[in-house]
Amino acid sequence: MDKEGAGIVGVGAYVPERIVTNDDLAKIVDTNDEWIYSRTGIRQRRFARDDEFTSDMALAATKIALTRAEIDPKEVDYFIVATASPDNTFPNTACWVQKGLGLEGAACIDISTACSGFVFGLQQGAALVNTGESKTCVVIGAEKLSAITNFKDRGSCILFADGAGAVVLRKTTDKGRIVCSRMGSSFDFDALAVPAGGSRRPASYETVDQQLHKITMKGRATYQTAVRKFAEMAMEACKRGNIAPEQLSWVVPHQANEHIIVSAMERANVPKEKIVMNLERYGNTSSASIPIALDEAVMDGRIKRGQYVLLMGFGGGLSWGYNLIKW
Ligand SMILES: CC(C)(COP(=O)(O)OP(=O)(O)OC[C@H]1O[C@@H](n2cnc3c(N)ncnc32)[C@H](O)[C@@H]1OP(=O)(O)O)[C@@H](O)C(=O)NCCC(=O)NCCS
Repeated sequence: MDKEGAGIVGVGAYVPERIVTNDDLAKIVDTNDEWIYSRTGIRQRRFARDDEFTSDMALAATKIALTRAEIDPKEVDYFIVATASPDNTFPNTACWVQKGLGLEGAACIDISTACSGFVFGLQQGAALVNTGESKTCVVIGAEKLSAITNFKDRGSCILFADGAGAVVLRKTTDKGRIVCSRMGSSFDFDALAVPAGGSRRPASYETVDQQLHKITMKGRATYQTAVRKFAEMAMEACKRGNIAPEQLSWVVPHQANEHIIVSAMERANVPKEKIVMNLERYGNTSSASIPIALDEAVMDGRIKRGQYVLLMGFGGGLSWGYNLIKW
């Protein structure tokens, strides 16, 4: 029998109803379906309604994950929300989620590491569960990136989208056990940033006029670093988990760009058939992309008990990280 440790006992995801195709984007910015699909693998994405916020999507995913785990929301003692597009600076988005469940008293934490946020959150949640500090921890990745996307920048607006995914963590021996995780960060403002809105550059007429509250990105440099980091992480995770790369059944990477993912996995000797990818339908939902893809592969039966599953994130900071899971 496996030793006891933090494990995933429930998954859930939510994406907004509104589908935005590449052709729809071509009506507001100088682009086309062929360019977007051939460069990124994205065909369409979901955008939230004007009155639907990051915490609403996080709450919807959380309710599904708790229902599937057959756990009463009252038992949750930690809510961890990874997001780059919080409802507010504070109260944090996790507080909004707890409020949405009609509860109070749990610890509510937001994690701000952009697209790597979910793997950071899962590592933190697992540490809390493993030490006994938390008995039931919900880790959520949720984004309304459409609210912080610069729709005048055709180089980036074609990527980003909205959605949420959640997992419930508890101590377990037989379910979704987190074998090992690692996270890392470096400073690179130019690669990916939201330049204004914080204490360094508070909101002003000028910052609004210059679109500085929206995502800025250097696509090519980000692409190259992401390929290198994804490949390094896959190899390191297998080594630390004491498994051969062939023993990995599934890799669930952050859904940034199909070409980034496939070329990184080629370097790490992971065949394309083992990669869970849904960015064709959902685009890049930042910290939500891994739990949305995980939910899909668990619910359609691809991911099965006992299989090794590797989650890998990469994003603003820069930041990167992975969780190796024995499902
Ligand atoms: C964004 C990305 C798809 C751009 O692809 P690219 O091949 O690097 O394209 P470039 O930015 O070099 O631009 C190439 C040309 O296409 C043009 N172009 C850029 N965006 C375009 C669009 N949406 N439609 C049509 N043309 C576009 C550029 O203006 C440029 O034209 P030029 O050669 O006449 O100057 C790619 O760099 C990428 O995916 N990077 C990673 C980004 C990422 O994943 N970020 C999130 C990380 S979590």
